[in-house]
Amino acid sequence: MKKGRIAVLLSGRGSNFRALYKATKEGKIPAEIVLVITDKKNALGAASAREYGIETLYFRRKDYPDRVLFDMAIADAIEKRNIDLICLAGYMRILSPEFIKRFRGRIMNIHPALLPCFPGLHAQKQALDYGVRFSGATVHFVDEGVDSGPIILQSVVPVYQDDTEETLAERILKEEHRIYPEAVKLFFEGRLEIKGKKVIIKNEGDSS
Ligand code: GAR
Repeated sequence: MKKGRIAVLLSGRGSNFRALYKATKEGKIPAEIVLVITDKKNALGAASAREYGIETLYFRRKDYPDRVLFDMAIADAIEKRNIDLICLAGYMRILSPEFIKRFRGRIMNIHPALLPCFPGLHAQKQALDYGVRFSGATVHFVDEGVDSGPIILQSVVPVYQDDTEETLAERILKEEHRIYPEAVKLFFEGRLEIKGKKVIIKNEGDSS
């Protein structure tokens, strides 16, 4: 069977990218990461991608007159390479509606909270400040809103009274690394169906 083709967009450390890469290499996902795109020249994740021999492109926002043209240049690069799925992995920009329109249902994101709680930046700090007893991680399809698209998988972690942003982030990150590859696997097995706001996960062998 032909392997699926993944593009990863990232802005920083890239630990979720590495977790996805590992899962593809170990044969846990019937797909490969063939392209990494970054908007930050020195992103650690981009350095890892180059080390792995993955084509890695850097797009500088300043080189484009506006956000939409910037996004369209990225979209063109993705389209040219016949990508099946775009994974946002710590990509710290909001994608324009024009970008979403070109790849609807084929963009996933990982967020360090139990959405719809605590969208946007500093999700772990938001959870600590609110005083919730549980938080977690969410993998979702991307729509035009901020962290608002259909939810694919979630994982819950406890929040302890003596947690700092760092200790909570670390606990959540472990779950991110577990559920992101799992969600991507389900996608390539054809088991995810978007029905309005919801994602239906079909049973194994029931992907028609
Ligand atoms: C991850 O915790 C991810 O969930 C978060 O950024 C971190 C990136 O880490 N994303 C968001 O907050 C998006 N709203 P990584 O670069 O090591 O994968």
